[in-house]
Amino acid sequence: MQAALAWTILSAFWTFGPAYVPNSAAVVVGGGAPIDGGRTWRGRRLLGDGKTTRGFVGGTLAGLAAAAGLNALAPLLSPALPTFPPAAALGLSGGAMVGDAGGSLVKRRTGRRRGAPFPFVDQLSFVVGAVVVTLAVAPTWALSTFTPVRLTVVTLATPLVHRGSNRLAFRVGLKDEPW
Ligand code: CTP
Ligand code: MG
Repeated sequence: MQAALAWTILSAFWTFGPAYVPNSAAVVVGGGAPIDGGRTWRGRRLLGDGKTTRGFVGGTLAGLAAAAGLNALAPLLSPALPTFPPAAALGLSGGAMVGDAGGSLVKRRTGRRRGAPFPFVDQLSFVVGAVVVTLAVAPTWALSTFTPVRLTVVTLATPLVHRGSNRLAFRVGLKDEPW
């Protein structure tokens, strides 16, 4: 029973691995010119200085590398673990960065400044982006791989993991805020 639960959780994190990596990678490699080029909409920045082209591209590439790594590991571990065809890898990693930027769009529209906390949006926008974009670019793979159980595990566990990793990034000086 416990082993089954552990396995379910592991396979959920595995499935979303290529979406988790881009966010952390963007913090490390990000910086430079903002995606929105400083543009504003209705008096507020479109996305803000926290969303940079370098972070977006570097994060997506890191997610693709993670997918390649998981693809290499899967046959050594278990045939039950999903592997990531190119479209799925791109959907998860690029979708995570799109969702993250979408979260910033929502934060700016609701008057939150760059770095201000917005519970659930900060933690889950990248998951939503990854799911939606992967459903669009690799629908067959997504429908068979994003099982209700995996989606539930990831939705419940991600806010906790996100909190922990951001606190760590804050403590080692990578992030300006612990959220
Ligand atoms: N980052 C980046 N480019 C991205 C995403 C993130 O350069 N596309 C980097 C930025 O240095 C950013 C940091 O990662 O400050 C943390 O990301 P996040 O918490 O998503 O951004 P915030 O600065 O908090 O901005 P926002 O309020 O818009 O979320
Ligand atoms: Mg933030």
